[in-house]
Amino acid sequence: MKKITRSILGTVLFSTSLWVSAANVETFQAYTRPAVSLNGEWKTLIDPYDNGYYNYRYEPFDQMASPPRSAYFMDAKPRHPGELIEYDFDAAKTLAVPSDWNTQDDALFYYEGTIWYRKQFNAPKVEGKQRTFIHFGAANYRADVYLNGEKLGHHIGGFTPFYFEVTGKLKPQNNSLVVRVNNERHREAVPTVNTDWWNYGGITRSVRLIVTPGVFVRDYKIQLDDYQTGAISGYALVDGAGAGQEVRLSMPQLDLDLRAKTDANGVAQFQTQVSGIQYWSPGSPKMYQLSLRTGTDRLDDEVGLRTIATQGKQLLLNGKPLFLRGISLHEEYAVHGGGRVKSAEEARHQLQWAQSLGANFVRLAHYPHNEHIVRLADQLGIMLWSEIPVYWTIDWESEETYQNAETQLSEMIGRDKNRAAIIIWSLANETPVSDARNTFLTRLADQARALDSTRLISAAMEKHYEADNPEMAVVEDPLADLVDIVAFNQYIGWYDGLHEKADRVNWRIPYDKPVFISEFGAGAKQGRRGDSNTLWTEDYQAELYRKTLAMLDRIDGFVGTSPWILADFRSPRRMLPGIQDTFNRKGLLSETGVKKAAFDVLKDYYRQRARHPAQPASTEVETGEQSQ
Ligand code: GCU
Repeated sequence: MKKITRSILGTVLFSTSLWVSAANVETFQAYTRPAVSLNGEWKTLIDPYDNGYYNYRYEPFDQMASPPRSAYFMDAKPRHPGELIEYDFDAAKTLAVPSDWNTQDDALFYYEGTIWYRKQFNAPKVEGKQRTFIHFGAANYRADVYLNGEKLGHHIGGFTPFYFEVTGKLKPQNNSLVVRVNNERHREAVPTVNTDWWNYGGITRSVRLIVTPGVFVRDYKIQLDDYQTGAISGYALVDGAGAGQEVRLSMPQLDLDLRAKTDANGVAQFQTQVSGIQYWSPGSPKMYQLSLRTGTDRLDDEVGLRTIATQGKQLLLNGKPLFLRGISLHEEYAVHGGGRVKSAEEARHQLQWAQSLGANFVRLAHYPHNEHIVRLADQLGIMLWSEIPVYWTIDWESEETYQNAETQLSEMIGRDKNRAAIIIWSLANETPVSDARNTFLTRLADQARALDSTRLISAAMEKHYEADNPEMAVVEDPLADLVDIVAFNQYIGWYDGLHEKADRVNWRIPYDKPVFISEFGAGAKQGRRGDSNTLWTEDYQAELYRKTLAMLDRIDGFVGTSPWILADFRSPRRMLPGIQDTFNRKGLLSETGVKKAAFDVLKDYYRQRARHPAQPASTEVETGEQSQ
């Protein structure tokens, strides 16, 4: 019997030291904690020349021992008629938070640079040793954060959370929270200068003020190690505690009530075996309530329990073969004409669209999406692929770039490691094979496995053709040896010939691993009809889907796909007048959610696959026959 691989089966004791120090990422499980929202209208100053951050010698004000009041983060007002202050937040326009700035003001549609955000707020009531934190869901790309003129710190990376402790730093009234957000693109950044998505800037996710007891559960992990034995293990990281602090883990629906003591790192480990677990799966996304209590603190949350593994070319969910009926998705909410997803409602609508396709899987491309969508996927029973924006050709030689990528990876895994819905961590998308790249991605893979032994690792690779056979497509990449699932993007019929080519191409994928097609597709302007050989028509796109699905069904080890893409999305690389007009048109839905013909082609195919997961389904679709 082929060995089941799932990185490190049934890890007994967690190497918490890694969690404590991973790329100095200190995860804060904040989503379910009560908080004061700082969302809403924030005063903003557009600062294309970073005049509020640098002096005319281009020296950063916040590196100065006593920054001048002309620095915007000082949020100063003239103290007398003769004092020169050339900014004024009180008189400034506002922008909504959470949101990108690009879709709030036409003048900011293409804007890349700095915008200063200011929020004034009164301190929440705190007693005794209670502590206060300011938590950001995300801000793209770099955020420098100041409180009452004092720098709290900065964060780089537009798609992962960060927070600052402000205990003892708050005034009772009128605290000034100032955030310099800059979304300029840089060669050594992650992502780098060119992407096929809109570089939305701003404080794009919620900002919350969180009060905790002096000693509190800042992070935890609970996982099912073995679906056959019901072995569960986990840990709680108690901030403010040394060794010997008692932590109580309760999961009432499982009659589970465990106590453990923290070690010197403030980490308490749990290990047990439970019978009668209803395993999480798309068909029954069972969620279990849990609470972690220590001292006066209590953290409530809910988790699904499931295992995901591979065995040879098979993908196994709770030990059963799995076919991923997927679709790719950008974190852009089409209905309101684009812009970053702003709420749980919008995220739910995206997942409902995916479900109406018959999908049980969504590839969240190309960066960690908001926490709403991963938690909703838990509840709705939709499996997820989550990825960091190591996209195309980043600066593989730069250690700074590597540390940036590793931090984003650790922040992504840190935030979502308790989400049953996420089954795959993706390290990269369409990256060119080179020694530097291989080394870079090998380090990331090691980091991902060290941080989480319960999920599969993958990346979207590329194909090429046999030198002497232009109809033999090959996926051969050192990265494929590193990952658990061999995933690749292919655009036969769009960037590579016409759709009829799919009838002739065969595949050589020399790995004893499951094969997943992470992208395929064609552009179509919704409402544009014609014969199926005319580009940009719905008919061409639909025919490409039929032929591609038939081709994929011929691939040995094919366990699923996430076609590119659910809905048309904004991209600065897509300017064809009358057709693209700043949108990538490969959606199965228009940017306002209107279906294109290919939507039903894929839906029919998924209906068949839902019935017979292990059986090629394209024949039914090919002939257009309706399944009973
Ligand atoms: C690439 C890439 C996507 C892009 C797509 C396209 O494969 O991964 O980000 O949008 O192709 O060209 O439409």
